[in-house]
Amino acid sequence: MKEQLLKLKNEVIEKLSKISNENDLRELEIKYLGRKGELTTILRELKNLSEEEKKIIGALSNETKQYLEQKFEEKLNELKNKKLDQDLKESIDYTLPGKKYEFGHLHPITILQQRVETIFSQMGFSVMDGPEIESEWYNFEGLNIPSTHPARDMQDTFFIDQEADDKHGNLVLRTHTSPVQVRTMLKYGAPLRVIVPGRVFRNEATDARHEHTFDQVEGLCVDENISLSHLKGVMQEFLTRLFEKEVKVRFRPGFFPFVEPGLELDFSCLLCAGKGCKVCKNIGWLEFMGAGMVHENVLKAGKIDPKKYQGWAFGFGLTRLALMRYEIDDIRHLMTPNLQFLKQF
Ligand code: DAH
Repeated sequence: MKEQLLKLKNEVIEKLSKISNENDLRELEIKYLGRKGELTTILRELKNLSEEEKKIIGALSNETKQYLEQKFEEKLNELKNKKLDQDLKESIDYTLPGKKYEFGHLHPITILQQRVETIFSQMGFSVMDGPEIESEWYNFEGLNIPSTHPARDMQDTFFIDQEADDKHGNLVLRTHTSPVQVRTMLKYGAPLRVIVPGRVFRNEATDARHEHTFDQVEGLCVDENISLSHLKGVMQEFLTRLFEKEVKVRFRPGFFPFVEPGLELDFSCLLCAGKGCKVCKNIGWLEFMGAGMVHENVLKAGKIDPKKYQGWAFGFGLTRLALMRYEIDDIRHLMTPNLQFLKQF
């Protein structure tokens, strides 16, 4: 009987190793360990043995039974785990589209500013920066704007109730990028060739064309023998590179206290190339910026000798340029965090 038990044990182990599903496992268990199974059949013979043998064989058969039961349980667990793995694998649908990661991007004003900086850098201009909270002196007096000038009116400017220092008046949110002209002259002297992109502020009622906060680009070129023809050439080249098509410019007389003579610069309508259309209101030209030869008083404020040096300056609205370049019909879009709008750029 001992041999029979051993043989049964080995048989079961051998068969167990070949089982690959739970049904076969159950059948095998019934066949060997069930009530009418092979082990029971062997045990039935126990009664024919002597007391001594009964003890030994009885213990051995119990041991065998426990051992096999444990093996069956282990196999069951193994099969269950395998099935779980399989189910998990099958639950991954490799044909599903992947997860899309959203990337942010630069604001349209920043994109345009970088383009403007690149073009002017290619023409030998340096890019300058200045404080947004400026002193009254740099924002006005240094630019030949006397205290009686309408730009000093409380309506136009956000004044700050705090002194800049004892020589430069109170602080204001700068109304234009022009104050950086004098700052740059004082810092670097002549000759100079710079642009100054930056944020400016006006006490404006907001509508489709006006904002209290917008961006400008200032330009300044100071050297010996500088004339307005240089300005015309630079601006024509700049606009042609920016719009990637031939653009013409023209001057009209204009007034700004910090230039003499002062002028306005227009460029040929992008849509009709000067013939006249709805966009340019049949004029063929689009108003673009203020400019002029730097006023002697401004050069003096910047400690540059007006007898030796002269130059021109200009200032245009970067925000306005963005409206034209991207054909945006309302300036307020540019100041809102409206992703539907911003994602177009
Ligand atoms: N600062 C002027 C403005 O905000 C624009 C301007 C006009 C700048 C003429 C200049 C200039 O440098 O020469 O309206």
